[in-house]
Amino acid sequence: HTRVRSSPLLPANDPTLLFTNAGMNQFKDVFLGVEKRDYVRACSSQKCLRAGGKHNDLDEVGKTARHQTFFEMLGNFSFGDYFKEDAIKLAWDFLVNELKMDPRRLWFTVFGGDDEVGPDEDAEKFWEKVGASRERILRFGRKDNFWQMADTGPCGPCSEIHYYLGDDPDDPTKNRVDLVNGPGDTTMEIWNLVFMQYEQLADGTRHDLPKPSIDTGMGLERMAAVLQGTHDNYATDLFRSLIKAVADATGVDPDGPKKVSHRVIADHLRATSFLIAEGVLPSNEGRGYVLRRIMRRAMRHAELLGAHDPLMWKLVPALVREMGAAYPELHHAETLITETLKLEETRFRRTLERGLGILDAETKKLKSGDKLKGETAFTLYDTYGFPLDLTQDALRPRGIGVDLDGFNAAMDRQREKARASWSGSGDAATESVWFALREKAGASEFLGYETERAEGVVQALVRDGNEIETLKAGESGAVVLNQTPFYAESGGQIGDTGMISGDGVRFRVTDTQKKAGDVFVHIGTVEQGTLKTGAAVALEVDHARRGAIRANHSATHLLHEALRQVLGDHVAQKGSLVAPDRLRFDFSHPKPMTADELARVEDIANDIVLQNSPVTTRLMGLDEARASGARALFGEKYGDEVRVVAMGESGNALGWSVELCGGTHVARTGDIGLIAGLSDSGVASGVRRLEALTGKAARKNANNIIQLAKSAAAELRAPLEEMPGRLAGLLEERKRLERELSDTRKKLAMGGGKASGADGARMVGDIKLLARAVSGIEIKDLKGLADEGKKQVGSGVVAIVGVTGDGKAGIVVGVTDDLTKRFSAVDLVRKAAEALGGKGGGGRPDMAQAGGPDGGKADAALAAIEQALGG
Ligand code: SER
Repeated sequence: HTRVRSSPLLPANDPTLLFTNAGMNQFKDVFLGVEKRDYVRACSSQKCLRAGGKHNDLDEVGKTARHQTFFEMLGNFSFGDYFKEDAIKLAWDFLVNELKMDPRRLWFTVFGGDDEVGPDEDAEKFWEKVGASRERILRFGRKDNFWQMADTGPCGPCSEIHYYLGDDPDDPTKNRVDLVNGPGDTTMEIWNLVFMQYEQLADGTRHDLPKPSIDTGMGLERMAAVLQGTHDNYATDLFRSLIKAVADATGVDPDGPKKVSHRVIADHLRATSFLIAEGVLPSNEGRGYVLRRIMRRAMRHAELLGAHDPLMWKLVPALVREMGAAYPELHHAETLITETLKLEETRFRRTLERGLGILDAETKKLKSGDKLKGETAFTLYDTYGFPLDLTQDALRPRGIGVDLDGFNAAMDRQREKARASWSGSGDAATESVWFALREKAGASEFLGYETERAEGVVQALVRDGNEIETLKAGESGAVVLNQTPFYAESGGQIGDTGMISGDGVRFRVTDTQKKAGDVFVHIGTVEQGTLKTGAAVALEVDHARRGAIRANHSATHLLHEALRQVLGDHVAQKGSLVAPDRLRFDFSHPKPMTADELARVEDIANDIVLQNSPVTTRLMGLDEARASGARALFGEKYGDEVRVVAMGESGNALGWSVELCGGTHVARTGDIGLIAGLSDSGVASGVRRLEALTGKAARKNANNIIQLAKSAAAELRAPLEEMPGRLAGLLEERKRLERELSDTRKKLAMGGGKASGADGARMVGDIKLLARAVSGIEIKDLKGLADEGKKQVGSGVVAIVGVTGDGKAGIVVGVTDDLTKRFSAVDLVRKAAEALGGKGGGGRPDMAQAGGPDGGKADAALAAIEQALGG
């Protein structure tokens, strides 16, 4: 057999499973014949969790000596290689010859048959053949001897091996047949051999597997108990040191009347720690909620042991010592596990106190056999965070139950209220489909913090606001799944894109949005095949795009902190956009940033990038998060539980940048690569916008700029570093040339035309008149010419008509100061303007200006002035 590592507790290839619950999970597709491996025999030791779903042992833990939520399952597997006979031979050989178990203590159960299939006579025959005695082989029904992983998937009849742990195997009054699958822990199942033959489908039908296969599962803990001669998993060395740690911390006898609490804590510590190590954090939905229930149950027992302060976190070192060598993930996540436990227990204690108070008051008058009102149990759950099973657990010792119908009715009323308040809000008509879906299918579980690839089940398809059953090739619509790695747009981070695929179907996701609070909606188009509700599909986020989004989101946090350091504490986030190709961050600041400030912000942020320190996420209470100095958006509504993202070393105890954030981030700051291309602009009064690029985009942008500079330098035939000096020189030279050109033009204009005097002026009565019609010069330069003329004549009147390229005319009249009492330039220019077909004109007595449409009348205009002077 090829040794195969344990797969994670979070099943990667199965949308129907909450947690890995058996060694065969990771081989499911191999059994089904859809996946090939380069081996046909395998063995493993698999992390399993049975809490929620088809196999749920949560409520049994502590009550029996052999139930756990978390356990390690040993197994051997054949994928179309050996079958029933060899599996039985191997099992006998291993137990009797390798482990030296006494065959007198072993019992064998086989499938006794039902309406569809007859009794498993083959299995009986093979057990006898290897040496089992006839009377030790027992038939059982479907409940005990037909194994299926979940409601669908590979399955088959099975044969179990049970072990008698009592003192006299030969005494038939002690080693009794009714103890097999019966009461107590004296005889217990140690190994299950499943003869995988069928695939169970969702519609209730069953197919034969391509090849009969073998899946066996043996609990390591039970096997340890048997080999160590005890009935009790919790008495083995696997648990003793954990239980000792509980006893040391509480001073309570581990074998006394509070024994159950010790066991619950030890088991739940393992389950909790392994889940957190895989990235599950307590929440009110999905797997996070199962984790929370497990944690809170243990914490309730810590309280029963009289622990005054949070206890669970203190046990983590004992667990890491015990299991860290085999499971290095415990080492890596030790801090996260410790912090998460401490926080949850601190918060839970507060609610526990209030909740138990209420429970006490409400049950004072109840006696054994009575039931607590469902409404009260619901209030405890809804307002005080008391899971129902905890309430049941707390009342069980007093023999008090809970009115479950009342509980469910209260839950329904609550939903009804939520629905009513929803329909009252804005977009009710178009959005109501999502709300209905939220009620029917529940929230989508988001897996995208940990993975960008998963499987899911299509819960609903929506097209044009209506639920439909199928979406065909070419059609666009929205897909809702039970779980998804696709991030739905929120907090400035835009939605993921990618592919949903299954049995010949491809649905391209072009956007992901959140509706009705927590329903993730995948928007896109079917490229191939037909997508149907109920289908199990593979989900894959566009990794490169998400990678760029992560980098941009983390960079936004770094820039935020750097801005505060450079500009001051008044910098507050006003909005942000995190896309794959760019990021922008709007913040309060009264004036534009200087180039120096931008450079400092860029330097500081990139220093943290270069630290390449890990980016950590914690789950915290809102108050604790605020107290730790985490940045929050002012006015934003947060739940009382928040994700806190920290990155960078130094600064705050948690990290250099600490923010409340639900987005996705890089694993280490170095993954950002580079932050560059910063620019600042104004968006509203008092609000600036910083834009920047990261990673590849930043590098490409920088390269572009270098290329542009190089080609500019090549044009100038100058080395790059001399370019600024050269350009400044060129611009200076150009200005000088323009001035020269303008002077030459003026001179040419004034020197030409029909001049009579030395200065080109003539006398009209006693007034010297310099009159010129010029072309080829700009109207705006006429004034300059008129000034020039006034200087030339010393005392007199200057009139210059300029004709533009399109035949219009402008006229300027200047009167030297000594003559302004007799003639006003304004009067004169108005007369000229009339001749040019225009009207008006304005200025001062010594200089006035007007225009007219008819440049051909330039001479007439000048004549009009001459006439006005009395000529
Ligand atoms: N899948 C079977 C079980 O979990 C045997 O491994 O019991």
